[in-house]
Amino acid sequence: MNFIESLEWRYATKRMNGEQISDEKLQHILDAVQLTPSSFGLTPYNVIVVQDPAIKEKLTPHCFNQPQIKESSALLIFAPWKNINDAHVDTYMHEIATTRGIPAEALTDFGNMIKGKINSSAPEDLHVWASKQAYIALGFGLAAAAVEAIDSTPMEGFNPAGVNEVLGLEAKGLSAVCMLALGYRDAPQDYLANAKKVRRDKEKLFIKY
Ligand SMILES: Cc1cc2nc3c(=O)[nH]c(=O)nc-3n(C[C@H](O)[C@H](O)[C@H](O)COP(=O)(O)O)c2cc1C
Repeated sequence: MNFIESLEWRYATKRMNGEQISDEKLQHILDAVQLTPSSFGLTPYNVIVVQDPAIKEKLTPHCFNQPQIKESSALLIFAPWKNINDAHVDTYMHEIATTRGIPAEALTDFGNMIKGKINSSAPEDLHVWASKQAYIALGFGLAAAAVEAIDSTPMEGFNPAGVNEVLGLEAKGLSAVCMLALGYRDAPQDYLANAKKVRRDKEKLFIKY
């Protein structure tokens, strides 16, 4: 399948059959998530990878009992940083300097520009900004899963406070905003398995100049 055929094949899977996906395929999807671009490259979020059935069990009631939580093979939970601060920027500058072999001083202006943005933004605006970055990673993970012929469900139908509590995210300075369940479709149980894709016509979606 080419990329567009993979995107046509995928759908937000409502029922999965519990079959495990291979480590190799999971790794490819995580590679794509890691390669996601972000504003300034800061990547102001973490991605929690849940494969433990006991944790999925605990998460289920906080996710409106959606069956994909338990039926998935792996659950990626995208959690933006709650308090983005200068230390995050300094760590990132250090990563750039060591990865590219350039002196830290060469990055002073870039670091100060990022610090200027974060220190002049209200905490709630920063959370929205960090969440946007996390949603791009969700999109990359979704697309990568399709390429790997792994079924998936993007999810924001959950109670963040409950999910944060189960995973101890508050203590890590994180708060969950969206998830990606990965696994294999249970076609006979899934009313959407053979449903036609509904998308707004290109003529209505795209505004051309
Ligand atoms: C950010 C986001 C959150 C979603 N949350 C849920 C969810 O909690 N549960 C669910 O079953 N589907 C969820 N969906 C799936 C959408 O309903 C679905 O992607 C949309 O109807 C388009 O259908 P398709 O993905 O099958 O092509 C979500 C999708 C996105 C992008």
